[in-house]
Amino acid sequence: MNVASMVNAFGGGKLFSCKENDENSHSNFSVSEASVSNSVVVSSSAAANLVMLGAGYFCPLTGFHNKDDALSICEGMRMQNGQFWPVPVLNLLRTHEGISEGDVVALKDPNVEDCPILAYQRVESVERLTSIEMERMTKNIFGTLDKKHPGVETFLSQGPVLISGDVLVLNYSFYENSFAGTFVTAGQIRTAFAQRNWQKVVAFQTRNPMHRAHEELCKIAKNELGADGVLIHMLLGKLKEGDIPANVRDSAIRTMVELYFAENTAMVCGYGFDMLYAGPKEALLHAVIRQNAGCSHLIVGRDHAGVGDYYSPFAAQEIFHSELVSSAYEIEIFEADHTAFSKKLNKVVMMRDVPDHVPEDFIMLSGSRVREMLGNGEALPPEFARPEVADILMAYYQGLRNI
Ligand code: ADX
Repeated sequence: MNVASMVNAFGGGKLFSCKENDENSHSNFSVSEASVSNSVVVSSSAAANLVMLGAGYFCPLTGFHNKDDALSICEGMRMQNGQFWPVPVLNLLRTHEGISEGDVVALKDPNVEDCPILAYQRVESVERLTSIEMERMTKNIFGTLDKKHPGVETFLSQGPVLISGDVLVLNYSFYENSFAGTFVTAGQIRTAFAQRNWQKVVAFQTRNPMHRAHEELCKIAKNELGADGVLIHMLLGKLKEGDIPANVRDSAIRTMVELYFAENTAMVCGYGFDMLYAGPKEALLHAVIRQNAGCSHLIVGRDHAGVGDYYSPFAAQEIFHSELVSSAYEIEIFEADHTAFSKKLNKVVMMRDVPDHVPEDFIMLSGSRVREMLGNGEALPPEFARPEVADILMAYYQGLRNI
């Protein structure tokens, strides 16, 4: 097994990144200090996009989309050149801050002390989005204009000035230090698969600690697909209030894998991106990311990348069914049904596999109920969470109470 025989990068080519001094770098331009005309602190969302471009997860993009591409992606999931892309990758600013077409601009990191330079951008265009265009984009990405939706709120809090153009990424922001050993690039994952001789790999996207349903979901997918391994690939960027922070989740997931997965069947790592909570559209982006990381399959289960009740439970699976979408990917989707512990069978099952069950036969806890129990110091039932995982979460919640 070698890297070349894996699934192609998204779009059918070889994987590349926009990072300086990276073995996979396509490096469209180099920068001398003299050519840099201005600098600007970008939004956290734009910084996350830069980290993804630098880590090869957004291959084959070479930079930020312009307005025509952005609108065309939102409306029809294609760029102006006809290539499929699910969610525009944007650098939105409040004002144009003296930036003009043709400039090379230093993009500063809002998430690191003193805002060091994260990347350079060659400015292809500086365009202003009207409020109608901002709304159209929001509605198309998130399916709603409701500002109570955390992704909508974040998206609309950015300014309307769109700066497009290629980028040269210098570093991976805070991810390398804060998540050393967990943050990896798409190229590093491909290399790790080759070293393990994993050819068929199913990816599991997560922003949560993994309970028994998630654990079993991964094991069922691996078995049904005859995969060599599971890539547990967690989001390490910003989350909405109330979600478990990435460092707590990382430790809970690693503990679970160590204790409950057979050796060399799961690889735990993460990527640096802020959660959009865009449900189906974000699932499409998740598939791009995992194809670039060399995975043959991605698990998409119930309410994938969802929040509240903005999306129907299986909308993120259905969006892959159209010809436009399915023909764009080499990675395949493993559609997982609602998974939960069956009191009748005394094990975790997928509901489609137990048609004789009624809802009362399952042990199910909502996210808010889990938070409430942990906040009150009540132990999570062992049918729901592994005790070692529950202990880590309890310690976190009890720590919060003492702040
Ligand atoms: S996500 O926002 O990253 O999708 P989460 O970490 O909760 O959230 O879910 C990770 C994956 O597991 C998603 O594919 C989701 O659909 C799936 N999933 C989570 N819980 C269940 C469940 N009980 N049954 C089926 N799929 C689930």
